[in-house]
Amino acid sequence: MIIVETIQALSKELKPLRNKIIGFVPTMGYLHEGHLSLIRRARQECDIVVMSIFVNPLQFGPNEDLDRYPRDFKRDSALAEQAGVDILFHPSAEEMYPTPNLTEVSVTQVSERLCGASRPGHFTGVATVVTKLFHMVMPDRAYFGLKDAQQVAVIQQMVHDLNFPITIVPCETVREPDGLAMSSRNVYLTKEERQQALILSKSLLAAKDGLTTGRWSTAEEVRDFVYQQISTQPLARIDYVEVLTYPSLQPIQKLTNQQIIVAVAVRFGQTRLIDNILCCGKE
Ligand code: PAF
Repeated sequence: MIIVETIQALSKELKPLRNKIIGFVPTMGYLHEGHLSLIRRARQECDIVVMSIFVNPLQFGPNEDLDRYPRDFKRDSALAEQAGVDILFHPSAEEMYPTPNLTEVSVTQVSERLCGASRPGHFTGVATVVTKLFHMVMPDRAYFGLKDAQQVAVIQQMVHDLNFPITIVPCETVREPDGLAMSSRNVYLTKEERQQALILSKSLLAAKDGLTTGRWSTAEEVRDFVYQQISTQPLARIDYVEVLTYPSLQPIQKLTNQQIIVAVAVRFGQTRLIDNILCCGKE
């Protein structure tokens, strides 16, 4: 595996490989099994696998966890190599943003609800850095985890609207054996918070069961069920519980056979966790 830190070095490595299928896995590091599953999928489907590790300041709000976001480059590079990365791009903030960034990529509508509403500017930061990374890597395929289902919808919309010649490959959420969705932020949780956080996957799974057995006829009933389940945990502070169409992320009332997302964001202490399930409103 080759590690490069500059855009110029990355271009130099990629230049002789332009006739190959290039797969790209953009990450912010602190790799877990979810990231590794993206690398493995890219490894199966592409000739060359490029991964980036860059904690992007543009997508963090002023009171968010940019400074304390977990980092361990040594461990990450060993894991990336084992999982099959060929080129690891690890730029500094100065390399990515040498001058103040005056150009933004912002995707309307799909960015507006869920995390877009609770984290103003977040998806503009994501779409902007992903655009820059796409231009630097010029991949054929790019791999994103569905734990961040809204991010996938935003990137897909952007790629469609701006004609990026890239196939976006959404990949299933990877969970701990007890159901907790893998996230670099899980390391912030205390033992008690982590135990109570299991309510997210439990309530979403129960919602999916209810949806497949036709228990509810409106989105509001599903939302109320999940909200009540999460509220049983004393440490849980709910940011949102929403049931929307997917990937358009618009409100619905009556459940139909259209694909929906049940998405939650919940704080446990200092840690904000998100999780979701995708399914048909009616089977
Ligand atoms: O999902 C992430 O880790 C980040 O949002 C991404 C896509 C790497 C952009 O910084």
